Amino acid sequence: MGYTVFEKVLRSHIVSGELVPGKRVKVKIDQTLTQDATGTMAYLQFEAMGLPKVKTELSVSYVDHNMIQGDFKNPDDHRYLQDIAAKYGILFSRPGNGICHQVHLERFAAPGKTLLGSDSHTPTAGGIGMVAMGAGGLDVALAMAGEPFTITMPKIVRVLLAGELPPFVSAKDVILEVLRRISVKGGVGKVLEYTGPGVKSLSIPDRATIANMGAETGATTSIFPSDEVTRQWLRAQAREHQWVLLEADADASWSETIEINLSELTPMVAQPFQPDNVVPIEELEGIKVDQVMFGSCTNSSLRDILSIAHILAGKRVHPSVDAGISPGSRQVMLESCACGAMDELISAGVRILESSCGACIGMGFAPPTEGVSLRTINRNFFGRCGHASGKVFLVSPEVAAASAITGRIADPRKLGIEPFEFRQPEQFIIDDSMIIAPSAEPEKIEIRRGPNIAPLPEMPPLPESIEGEILIKVEDNITTDHIMPAGAKILPLRSNIPEISKHTFEVLDPTFYHRAREKGGGFIVGGENYGQGSSREHAALAPRYLGIKAVIAKSFARIHLANLVNFGILPLLFHKAEDYEKVDPQDVLHIDASTITTDGPFEVHNRSKNGSFLVTCPLSEEDLTIVKMGGKLNYIKEKNKS
Ligand code: F3S
Repeated sequence: MGYTVFEKVLRSHIVSGELVPGKRVKVKIDQTLTQDATGTMAYLQFEAMGLPKVKTELSVSYVDHNMIQGDFKNPDDHRYLQDIAAKYGILFSRPGNGICHQVHLERFAAPGKTLLGSDSHTPTAGGIGMVAMGAGGLDVALAMAGEPFTITMPKIVRVLLAGELPPFVSAKDVILEVLRRISVKGGVGKVLEYTGPGVKSLSIPDRATIANMGAETGATTSIFPSDEVTRQWLRAQAREHQWVLLEADADASWSETIEINLSELTPMVAQPFQPDNVVPIEELEGIKVDQVMFGSCTNSSLRDILSIAHILAGKRVHPSVDAGISPGSRQVMLESCACGAMDELISAGVRILESSCGACIGMGFAPPTEGVSLRTINRNFFGRCGHASGKVFLVSPEVAAASAITGRIADPRKLGIEPFEFRQPEQFIIDDSMIIAPSAEPEKIEIRRGPNIAPLPEMPPLPESIEGEILIKVEDNITTDHIMPAGAKILPLRSNIPEISKHTFEVLDPTFYHRAREKGGGFIVGGENYGQGSSREHAALAPRYLGIKAVIAKSFARIHLANLVNFGILPLLFHKAEDYEKVDPQDVLHIDASTITTDGPFEVHNRSKNGSFLVTCPLSEEDLTIVKMGGKLNYIKEKNKS
């Protein structure tokens, strides 16, 4: 029997386990990436392991999320990250060099390799034939320490592409179509592997856009073959020597097939507040637009900038629209300047924002009150782009550009302009001077820690008698943004758990923090897909700091489930989904820890209702042990003693 691309890469990296869906597999990690919002915590954890140097082939620390330097906090964090990189053998991508996923795609991603990143959009590098997965910072710290990464072997879905994209329809519309069909839960426990004759018509940035937003389906990752297009990309990045041919065998087996004829696709729009709330543009044409944001890690490549500049050339942004662009990297910036595209954008009235994540998370570019913001980003969760009343629609660069001109949601096919065709440069402008190599004398590096960087809190083991109130009961599809928002006020606190924990659940319930403190912790009850969205481990760390012992939900998003384990919070599933309806906020629950098993259901007593209900524990024996010990750092420390 033949293999898929995903299986081929995993087979060459397997440390233990079987490539059978549902089985646990330990995988060797070649490369890691961190970004500043998750990186400071990951490096505090790496330091706690006491190793002299990372053990990966390549590790890169990016600063892209929070560049605002309104006080000492972010500059302190950036300096800490630079010192850590210098000391421990990590490349440091300076603020201004670009968004981690775009820069990694340009300069480091390689077919056939594995990448673990403390950012949920790490699968972007799947566009180049890499197995690239998002994880919490602690898992990335462990990978840097040479530990394999454990995954539950996903099912492999074949996304069979035929045809070619019509004019003004682009990669974003492909992934919006996937989301329309399978939803934000449809990829859970799966890998989306793209194949078929349509693949060769897609550039590497197109593939990266599709792989990037595979994260929104909940998929473990997405992956494309490595072919001639991949080779040309690597050649243009002066990295052709890293190319290998990788394609699925003709007799590979797949768990299911999704067929998409690219030629039949039309422009799509995801309406607020979920990326799968997708409709064809015809249903929304004419809606007044207040703001347009181009860029983010999803649509910020040179191909995207040139397509936007092509549509805006010689025109003006509508007077009622505020338009801004965050090019994905310094390389994209330099290329856009060299070919005149940047001139077109500036002439049209587009605000040039930094090459960073800021605007994506509402820092420096948030919608007005009740405003409609069209964005080429990947997520439009409630409150994600700065505040709760902004209505964010996710669109392609082409729809965003057409709408910026007209002031209304507009179909770019109706503008009457020539279609755009991307021709990749033979050679990109390559200047890695903003990627700082580690020190040749690491023993001389003193790590500078500003007052913003607090030590990691102690994590006591799970008690024998787990008792407490349900402090909050939430609905389906709660995101890590709901649990721990980002934004200019909160991100600078990422290295300080006592401070950041004050914002836990504040968008849903501003009293949560005080009640959790007063009660000494308790339980959280969630619906389906609890913890979807980013890899933000603060969404587990902060509740843990506040004494949360367990989260009982109908289902969990993959990365958040792992983060709960890493920080010693017990994740439990309602055995019968209808029991969700039978518990209420403030109910006092009790679990006898000796009854917890990974084999079948066990009882949770509801003291307030004089009854009980059944739950299951969706963990391996090893993960349950980790939770009982109070989290993975305690577990690793104990393991290293023996
Ligand atoms: Fe940054 Fe937004 Fe992507 S925060 S990594 S640009 S999803």
